[in-house]
Amino acid sequence: MKRVFQKLHAVFLNGYDAQLGEKRSSRMGEKDGFPVSDKEESIGQNRIKIDLLIHDLKVPLAVIEAGITSLLNRQEKYGPLTEKQTKVLQRALRNTKVTQNLVADALELGRSRKGIMNLSDVRLSSCLGEALIELFDLNNSTLSEQIKACRSLDRLKETLRTEGLILEIDDRLWSAQLPLDEGKIKQIVRNLLSNALKYRKREVSLRAYKDQGNLFVCIKDDGEGIPAKYHKKIFDCYFQMDPSETCPVRGHGLGLAGVMVLLEDMGGKMTLSSDEGQGAEFIVKIPLLRV
Ligand SMILES: Nc1ncnc2c1ncn2[C@@H]1O[C@H](COP(=O)(O)OP(=O)(O)O)[C@@H](O)[C@H]1O
Ligand SMILES: [Mg+2]
Repeated sequence: MKRVFQKLHAVFLNGYDAQLGEKRSSRMGEKDGFPVSDKEESIGQNRIKIDLLIHDLKVPLAVIEAGITSLLNRQEKYGPLTEKQTKVLQRALRNTKVTQNLVADALELGRSRKGIMNLSDVRLSSCLGEALIELFDLNNSTLSEQIKACRSLDRLKETLRTEGLILEIDDRLWSAQLPLDEGKIKQIVRNLLSNALKYRKREVSLRAYKDQGNLFVCIKDDGEGIPAKYHKKIFDCYFQMDPSETCPVRGHGLGLAGVMVLLEDMGGKMTLSSDEGQGAEFIVKIPLLRV
């Protein structure tokens, strides 16, 4: 486990290393019985600085949130709003909350590298439902509101289907309570779904099922797919396939590497099944551990 962790640590930190332009060093020390180079140590310190920067975003975001909330809810004090102004402020507030969630996610990733798990009995309906709401709130707030308003699984499936997203999960599993790390699951699903939606031609499917000891979540799209030569590389930090080989959408190449770190923490696995021109399917296996 430690060894896996060290490897992942390296994957993650190398990314930051590349960005921060750390100088290389061959001097080795020792930590927990494993050799640690000067380079790793200074990268670790940079990592803490980055986490602190992310952490410090919380305060200005909270001030922005409080300000917008006051304008919306205390019109007797701050003056009346027109309908259009209210809509603009509601959107600003929603996206402030999305940014707050992203900051929380970024910090969660940092904690995750230290192997921290937050297991609890989680209802899949709330975990997957919230992941969908958060994902669409970013660029399709109407759909996000519609998802929020769905009172049954069938209604939700219908709503998603009109947007080309096919949800395949049975009622029993949807309302089951499973021992999971909800934050991590939401982050994984959001990342894989946002990729699938970005690269699809028409349709994406989100399928969930379980066996005795594991939950499986499969996310499949009908896009250009991923050539076999990239099947390992796409999990590296900052790696992106040549945009000319897929669609010309730029990201950061961090999502899949992050998903891998979260999964390794949970003792989970991810496999990719894809051929060029045939779409891609990411299959996530999450062990159901005791709370
Ligand atoms: N569903 C997919 N279909 C095709 N290519 C994909 C898919 N998911 C990921 N990729 C490729 O893997 C790369 C890395 O993905 P990711 O780590 O999520 O980073 P980002 O989304 O920021 O580009 C993407 O740039 C893309 O080239
Ligand atoms: Mg991505």
